[in-house]
Amino acid sequence: MKNTSQIPSAAGGLPLLGHVVPLLRDPLGFLTRLPEYGDLVRVNFGPLSALVVCDPALIGQVLRDDRTFDKGGPVYDRGREFVGNGLATCPHRDHRRQRRLVQPAFHPTRLPGYAQTVTTRAAELTASWQAGQILDVFADMQKLTAKITVDTLISTTAPRDGLTEAIDALNTIVGGLSLRMATPPPLDRLPTRGNRRYHQARERLPRVFRQIIAERRAAGIDHGDLLSMLLAAQGPDSGPAGERLLDSEVIDQIVTFFAGGTETSGSALAWALHMLGQHPEIEKRLHAEVDTVLDGRPATHADLPRLELTGRVLTETMRLWPPFAFFTRTCTADTRLGRYPVPAGTLIGCSPYLLQRQADLYPDPDHFDPDRWAPNHPHPPRREAFITFGGGARKCIGDRFGMNEMVLALATIAARWRLQPIPHQRVRPVFSGPTLQPSGLRMRAAARTTTSTTSAVNTAQPQ
Ligand code: HEM
Repeated sequence: MKNTSQIPSAAGGLPLLGHVVPLLRDPLGFLTRLPEYGDLVRVNFGPLSALVVCDPALIGQVLRDDRTFDKGGPVYDRGREFVGNGLATCPHRDHRRQRRLVQPAFHPTRLPGYAQTVTTRAAELTASWQAGQILDVFADMQKLTAKITVDTLISTTAPRDGLTEAIDALNTIVGGLSLRMATPPPLDRLPTRGNRRYHQARERLPRVFRQIIAERRAAGIDHGDLLSMLLAAQGPDSGPAGERLLDSEVIDQIVTFFAGGTETSGSALAWALHMLGQHPEIEKRLHAEVDTVLDGRPATHADLPRLELTGRVLTETMRLWPPFAFFTRTCTADTRLGRYPVPAGTLIGCSPYLLQRQADLYPDPDHFDPDRWAPNHPHPPRREAFITFGGGARKCIGDRFGMNEMVLALATIAARWRLQPIPHQRVRPVFSGPTLQPSGLRMRAAARTTTSTTSAVNTAQPQ
């Protein structure tokens, strides 16, 4: 067996700074070159040193063994400061219990109810667009997914005192979270307007939510939302104290869902619209599918199995542009990864972007090809080669929910609009914390009129 010092370091490192310069200059180029060094490669970011895992089998080992490769280290410690010790940030010792209590909120029987919210909100957004309007696509998709997440978390069918305040506090805490996580802690204390608003929201959030939770418990009604399910997991009859979520834990989960479910889906939808704008032949097929399946009526949960190409467009988009392009673990014990011993305390990095652009896993990896995912494809992608939603026990709990949401939202948009690229516009992938966003993405809204329920697609010209 080799020893740790033999693990290669990525080229371009400088004393003290490490790989800060290439990482800031071209992070995605830097990531995609890492597999050239082998299965494991050392990357330094100032004083931080991480081993980035490039091999799919070893990434699988890291994700499956969540006791040895636990959440922790600077990224999650910082994340915990903002979203609390919820499901996404808690260490292994708290995870099993939390996951068991939270899982029913995402039970398949709850999903049709959430779907209705998605299509209502997406239809509202698309009704607000004007033909010829230039849209800031990422901003619009963020607003859409934020509204959907709020509505599915805390149903607004029965407005009550404090709800607007609660939503405002959530938006303040989670909006810009990625950026905040990337900011050195001392800067949190600077008396800026943003910091003041953030600290006020942090103070307000538990107060307002405790009140909402108390009212909900007293009324004992299932509102069909995620909050109802979280509260059901803490009812007095649901088991011993350790088997209930405390109020503070419910609040941490709410912030976690809002943080985990907004930027990710919003970013993936924006990238999907960009990809469709770049690939008119696929866009045309998607429009034909949507016209056939929906035939002019709003999408429902029952349509999902037939919106099959729409689903593949999103999967392929998230292969190329995974919303969480990088995540980390900390080794809690001395262990081994492939040929190398890895000591306790080592920071490990895994990147869906790095993995999902490898040519030996995906032929012609930079090409946008939703048909790779077709059920009858002769060489389907390997299961462990797609980690957009993570894997193992810490796999995204909102994966089905998020997929359904994105398919229904994309179908609702495509039924009515074609979003055209703006000539000569430069769309750049940028990291905002761990999320990969399409910067500069503006598109022109062109109204569609469908002439048949099968394939013809007419596109009205912008006014
Ligand atoms: C495009 C949509 C989404 C993507 C790409 C995505 C991606 C991910 C990834 C990669 C992880 C694992 C992170 C790690 O291992 O460090 C994760 C975990 C998680 N996600 Fe998502 N997510 C999406 C949507 C959602 C939604 C809609 C929700 C909730 C409403 C959500 C809630 C969570 C939670 C709570 C975890 C932690 C799970 C655990 O540790 O048990 N995500 N997500």
